[in-house]
Amino acid sequence: MSQAQIVVGLQWGDEGKGKIVDHMAQRQEYVCRFAGGHNAGHTIVVDGKKFALHLVPSGILNPNAKNIVGNGVVLSPKDFIKELTQFDNLEGRLFVSDKAHLLLPYHAGIDQALERLKGKGAIGTTGKGIGPAYSDKVARVGHRIGELLDTVKLATKIVNYFEQNSVIFEALDITKPNFDELKNELDGYKQELLPFITDTTQMMWQILKEEKKVLLEGAQGTMLDIDHGTYPYVTSSTTISAGACSGLGLNPKDIGKVTGIAKAYCTRVGNGPFPSEDLGNNGNKIRERGHEFGTTTGRPRRCGWFDAVAASHAVRLNGVDQIALMKLDVLDGFEEVKVCVAYEVDGKRIDYVPYDLEDAKPVYKTFQGWQKSEGVREFDKLPQSTQDYIVALEEMVGAKIGIISTSPDRDDTIIR
Ligand code: GDP
Ligand code: IMO
Ligand code: MG
Repeated sequence: MSQAQIVVGLQWGDEGKGKIVDHMAQRQEYVCRFAGGHNAGHTIVVDGKKFALHLVPSGILNPNAKNIVGNGVVLSPKDFIKELTQFDNLEGRLFVSDKAHLLLPYHAGIDQALERLKGKGAIGTTGKGIGPAYSDKVARVGHRIGELLDTVKLATKIVNYFEQNSVIFEALDITKPNFDELKNELDGYKQELLPFITDTTQMMWQILKEEKKVLLEGAQGTMLDIDHGTYPYVTSSTTISAGACSGLGLNPKDIGKVTGIAKAYCTRVGNGPFPSEDLGNNGNKIRERGHEFGTTTGRPRRCGWFDAVAASHAVRLNGVDQIALMKLDVLDGFEEVKVCVAYEVDGKRIDYVPYDLEDAKPVYKTFQGWQKSEGVREFDKLPQSTQDYIVALEEMVGAKIGIISTSPDRDDTIIR
């Protein structure tokens, strides 16, 4: 029995998971997604060509890797089918769990309506329907991909559900689907997805038994985890490594090496606490240099310095064996680089993530900047102050930085 490797985000998402999963996938036989939906946007650049993946695992760009979408994912057939048009010959290379939950257009309608009603207190979701799809799952009124096999039954259940909850749907201004139209829509999904739907739990057990090389691809980031993130400003899934167990039907012993992805600074899209956010020139400079605009929604990302307190929280939660430090090149040319090494809450200095980060003020340590790390492929060739920064981060977060990324390109990657 082999163990699966896993890649997870250590910050607020968009750490560069796609690049590393793609890089590692060159040596993998299977790449598997276990949580989230098309709120994720994983960008991969190969030979200058850019791919944005939302639901399809990032192993798809390696012709030898097979890709699994696990039961923990909420899958929008409409968006998934659209994404598949970028690729050819997917049969036998892509598998979707019959237990993954369906995310249907009305989920996005509910998501957007709820955000509107929240007004200033909005979470700043991607508006894709992720929260409502997971809410339905947990409330036991959701629908699984396997139900597409009988579209009459599924359409009947959905229409009945709308009738039972008509007061809510009317208040949210979401119209009840017409049975025939809904059935037609579901039939279309069924036709496109049928070749991919399978029992991926059995498949996972079999491939691990056959000692295949398996990589589990996390989405979002630890600080967006439903339990351990900055609740309620989080996503609705378990984004940490533990989520891979329930999201794919694995047990903790099935998971081997854990790679945590973190940028050399921090970003966040949407609302909620972000202690090391820089609202001045430095934040703007990071956003411009790092092209920090959402892959999924195009929103400008909030930018700030590396948060070593949040990162060590994430290292512990995920059981990180090594960190991949991304986008180091974005900090090129800064005279000074800061790291948040503690928080001040009610005048007290703390070095852990508290119940609520809302009032946490950052305590910074300042490092000497550097001129150029972009494109460097060997650690020893990095400027001395860059090397010092990396070694200091390792000490602060308690994990080895085994991979360093110095450009979006697959090959501009230092392996230590
Ligand atoms: P993910 O959601 O974690 O997969 O990350 P995203 O794809 O949303 O955002 C990361 C962005 O940074 C993408 O546009 C990548 O192409 C880009 N990127 C990844 N690594 C590097 C790097 O080392 N340097 C620079 N400049 N860009 C990078
Ligand atoms: P990847 O996989 C960054 C954020 C949203 C919002 C909150 C809740 O590309 O790293 P949701 O639509 O999930 O209900 O929104 O979570 N969010 C992400 N931020 N990267 C992501 O995915 C995200 N997925 C969700 O911006 O703040
Ligand atoms: Mg992203």
